[in-house]
Amino acid sequence: MSELLLLNGPNLGILGRRQPEIYGTETLADIVDAVGEEVEGRGWKVVSVQRESEGELISAVHEADGTVGAIVNPGALMIAGWGLRDALAAYPRPWIEVHLSNVWAREAFRHESVLAPLADGVIVGLGALGYRLAARALLAKVPRS
Ligand code: DQA
Repeated sequence: MSELLLLNGPNLGILGRRQPEIYGTETLADIVDAVGEEVEGRGWKVVSVQRESEGELISAVHEADGTVGAIVNPGALMIAGWGLRDALAAYPRPWIEVHLSNVWAREAFRHESVLAPLADGVIVGLGALGYRLAARALLAKVPRS
């Protein structure tokens, strides 16, 4: 079965109770289910990886060579996650960067992502819906095998 990587960086495992006024009330488990719903019709299975440390996220990207594509919310690693950026540069499949919040409406240090120039697309500010939309974008981008 084809697998879709859903990669979430630091502090995203506590969604639902993490500053809900900014990040919403949906949990990461809700998001995994929602992405699964989007892609099940294509027969894709979601492989969800959430880690607090950059090294573990890098390893997850290395191990994901066989996946059909990826949805990546790097959390604060958007700001200076150069190692994660290099790993994603070598990732051979399309991937979409997602941020729940509108990072451009927030503090200046969130206004630039070192990963975004490599992404096939970027979705910000739409909350958990952004992950569903990223899944739909990947369905459109990945040719049917
Ligand atoms: C975030 C935005 C980042 O700036 C922040 O560090 C996060 C969450 C988002 O989804 O809005 O951890 O990636």
